[in-house]
Amino acid sequence: MSIHSVLDYVHVLVRQVLDEGEVAVDATVGNGHDTLALARSVGSGGRVFGFDVQAEAIEQTRARLASAEVDAAVSLVQDGHEEMERCLPEELVGRVGAVTFNLGYLPGSASDLTTTSETTIPALNASLRVLRPGGVVTIVLYTGHEEGTREAEAVDAWAEGLPQERFHALSYRFVNQKNDPPRLIAVEKRKAGP
Ligand SMILES: C[S@@+](CC[C@H](N)C(=O)[O-])C[C@H]1O[C@@H](n2cnc3c(N)ncnc32)[C@H](O)[C@@H]1O
Repeated sequence: MSIHSVLDYVHVLVRQVLDEGEVAVDATVGNGHDTLALARSVGSGGRVFGFDVQAEAIEQTRARLASAEVDAAVSLVQDGHEEMERCLPEELVGRVGAVTFNLGYLPGSASDLTTTSETTIPALNASLRVLRPGGVVTIVLYTGHEEGTREAEAVDAWAEGLPQERFHALSYRFVNQKNDPPRLIAVEKRKAGP
């Protein structure tokens, strides 16, 4: 397919925005696919911070990174993404190139723990504060379950309310796929004008 899937398009965006040696955040590490993509994009000299509340996710991601032999320094934090500002070194606030969110359940897990708008929206606001000008936040949404639908509505309202002078907010979704396919909201923090 020459049109990117939603998950591939996240990786296209982060590769495009991240420079070698930069800092990136994976707000929902899960099985570690986004963490690995961020680590590859920032390369040796770069840093990635990954958050997940589940030990299972942190362990799986650690194993994925070890077998991929990535060069970037990756810190995996078992804590909520709403705590990202507290967990990042102060000097990195305002210097992060990309933050990825992939909401919902941990794929393949027996646990029914899911992200919820009560913590997702504060985390999204924090992600805009840690971002550098020109940096991007990506949010993959799943509407196939009740909490996911509620959360997606809250994220849509959040993105639509961002001031146009400071942020570009984009929706990327397939309009003819069955069974509630994932969709993407991406936000770019605009560089200051001339
Ligand atoms: C859909 S999965 C992420 C998939 C992942 N990006 C991947 O590539 O495999 C969502 C993850 O969010 C985690 N999560 C739930 N609430 C969270 C919170 N408040 N902060 C950080 N992670 C959270 C879950 O434990 C789960 O692993």
